[in-house]
Amino acid sequence: AAVYPFFGPNQSGITTPAQDRLHFASFDVADITRDELVGLLQDWSAAAALMTQGKQAGTYGAVGGPYDAPPDDTGEALDLPASGLTITFGFGPTLFTDSSGADRFGIAADRPAALVDLPHFPADMLQDTLSGGDLCIQACSDDPQVAVHAIRNLSRIAFGRASIRWSQLGFGRTSSTSRAQQTPRNLFGFKDGTANIKSEDTGVVDDQVWASKADGAAWMAGGSYLVARKIRMTIETWDRTSLREQERIIGRTKGEGAPYSGGTEFSEPDFAATGQGGAPLIDEAAHVRLSHPDQNAGAQLLRRGYNFVDGNDDLGRLNAGLFFIAYQRDPRTQFIPIQMNLAKNDAMNEYIRHVGSGIFAVPPGAASGSYVGATLF
Ligand code: HEM
Repeated sequence: AAVYPFFGPNQSGITTPAQDRLHFASFDVADITRDELVGLLQDWSAAAALMTQGKQAGTYGAVGGPYDAPPDDTGEALDLPASGLTITFGFGPTLFTDSSGADRFGIAADRPAALVDLPHFPADMLQDTLSGGDLCIQACSDDPQVAVHAIRNLSRIAFGRASIRWSQLGFGRTSSTSRAQQTPRNLFGFKDGTANIKSEDTGVVDDQVWASKADGAAWMAGGSYLVARKIRMTIETWDRTSLREQERIIGRTKGEGAPYSGGTEFSEPDFAATGQGGAPLIDEAAHVRLSHPDQNAGAQLLRRGYNFVDGNDDLGRLNAGLFFIAYQRDPRTQFIPIQMNLAKNDAMNEYIRHVGSGIFAVPPGAASGSYVGATLF
């Protein structure tokens, strides 16, 4: 079973081969001081460094501490291996300046220009209770219990300093971030992650994923920007749509995942190719055309999303969708223009609804024994 380092130049959980399971949580920070915030980040990093190595949180773990005190670790991962656990921390815009414009922690001047408030996109139906947050934690693992254990313990450690604002479980990855991985499928039944940025493409990763000193905020060098979108899929409607229409909407075949212009899964799409009557083989409104770098000034994203099903509604419809996560060097030239293009024109819009949203600056990794965020404070 995989064990990934917690300390290093970049945080794990970005270019790490996407694990099977997700527990993501966004937090509101309580009315605490700058020193208390730093203390929280230090405690979080120390616990994350242990848990990602398959160890218990705290000094004593689940059962080694004083009998009359609550255990240091909640215990449900006691007999489980690390299971590829990665824990990735991010800072939301409201950590820098809160809604009243106050500089709570003396870091307003350090807010990176790239950490913008996302604009309202056409047809957004965002719920406040599923959006925003001062801090976020992405826990990914191949075992759901290990991912949940991580979020649970970090939230317990934060008690009195930060509390969960919203959270999301994901049960199947919807992307590959390494060429060694097989392409998984999303809940529309299509392969997802074919044209994703892969960790092996180090030139593209450096160009499109990691922030650099030259980008403005020096403390973010080696970090990245995370955009999360909770996207509901109206799968009952989708499931009554013909295979031909489903493939037209995506612009790829459902079985092989090949572009509609021909070839196999990893063939480059040919957007100029036409069929009978001169109609383009890949529809003008197809998702792969509109999201392709050719249509977006060369912009790419490292996608790392997960499928979700949060129960059902009272009409017996599954509350299902895709919890979209993308990493990038600058959302102003990557997520925002791509999503604007999709929100206006994507044929898929009839079957999806964006209900939650978050943007976070994901600092560089911590040096051994230090903590994530040390470059800022
Ligand atoms: C590609 C599905 C939302 C950006 C794809 C592909 C599928 C897909 C099946 C083709 C395979 C691949 O290359 O991965 C979906 C579904 C979504 C969704 C079901 C929502 C429920 C989004 C959003 C964005 C996005 C919100 C960004 C704003 C991209 C990009 C590509 C892609 C950049 C690769 C294009 C290329 O380089 O060929 N998506 N997607 N997708 N999608 Fe999405």
